[in-house]
Amino acid sequence: MADLNVGVVGASGMVGQEILVVLGERSFPVGELRLAASHRSAGDRALALGRRLTLTEPDEAFFQGLDLVFSAVSADVARRLLPLARAAGSVMIDKSNAFRLDPDVPLVVPEVNRAALAGQPRLIASPNCSTIPLVMVLDRLRQLGAIRQVEVSTYQAVSGTGREAVSALTAEIAGQRPDPEVYPKPIGFNVMPLVDQLSADGHSLEEDKLRLESRKVLGEPTLRLSSTAVRVPVYRGHSEAVTVTFAQPIDLGEVRARLDGAPGLKLVEPPDLPTPLDADGNDLVWVGRLRLDRDDPSRLLLFLVTDNLRKGAATNAVQIAEALWGLHP
Ligand SMILES: NC(=O)c1ccc[n+]([C@@H]2O[C@H](COP(=O)([O-])OP(=O)(O)OC[C@H]3O[C@@H](n4cnc5c(N)ncnc54)[C@H](OP(=O)(O)O)[C@@H]3O)[C@@H](O)[C@H]2O)c1
Repeated sequence: MADLNVGVVGASGMVGQEILVVLGERSFPVGELRLAASHRSAGDRALALGRRLTLTEPDEAFFQGLDLVFSAVSADVARRLLPLARAAGSVMIDKSNAFRLDPDVPLVVPEVNRAALAGQPRLIASPNCSTIPLVMVLDRLRQLGAIRQVEVSTYQAVSGTGREAVSALTAEIAGQRPDPEVYPKPIGFNVMPLVDQLSADGHSLEEDKLRLESRKVLGEPTLRLSSTAVRVPVYRGHSEAVTVTFAQPIDLGEVRARLDGAPGLKLVEPPDLPTPLDADGNDLVWVGRLRLDRDDPSRLLLFLVTDNLRKGAATNAVQIAEALWGLHP
């Protein structure tokens, strides 16, 4: 296959930088490489895939001749990029929340619903960084029987918010005052039960994403899923405490058999524990603390962790591209 001309928009951000690392690690066949960011970074030089490149703004000229664009920017910027990508005939893989629930846009975790890429879509959305590991585990668990309800508490790293939040945590740990522009409460030495915006009925946008995106990726539009999304003072790695209620009692040995060795999953047995530091810098979803509810053997409890910037963002996006071009059948 001929090399692909690739653009990364948001190349100076946390996810954009990680996409460049993952493209290199996976020897993605990159021909020409172009990097874009906001006017703040335009003109900056960056080293990517061994090439020294200049960042530009993502205008019409940026898209011309690109086969593939990774969009690692906010939802409003991604919406502005789409017509430019369409006009240039580029495939766009978007990391933002802009198109995920659009019924015409595939929302893909290759291990779960690679089939959604049939028909050569030109715009593909990659799910939220908490949704990706959760659906990978639920997809295996539903092989054991119908799932009645899923309850989740997340423990989400500050890098999930972007660069500013990483700097904010470092500053707070060093004793500086919290920046109210980043989080509504201090994040250093604290735990904040809010991720993204709060809606009028008390749920957060992150909690809605987890519910609605999981339904779409799993193809289960009535899946009952409730969550509390929490930000914690961890740099990298989102954790989730998950309770899955099945229609029937289940066997823990069968749970282990479904999870152990499943693509992208790493089962951690006692006395070992899955923690964000285990997941840091790799592409696995670490799953452990498996147990049945003492009062109800149809309820399974577990703890999972994944690197939000790797499988939660960059790696999933690159895997989508690999699947589209048949690079790793
Ligand atoms: N962080 C995660 O774990 C994670 C996981 C899944 C999905 N996501 C999603 O991925 C996207 C990027 O997140 P991030 O964490 O990488 O954010 P980030 O670190 O804050 O980076 C944002 C990037 O967007 C660029 N940008 C801002 N305005 C722009 C504009 N008008 N035109 C072009 N580029 C512009 C920034 O460029 P400048 O440097 O010039 O400002 C920067 O490169 C967001 O939609 C986020 O929700 C993030």
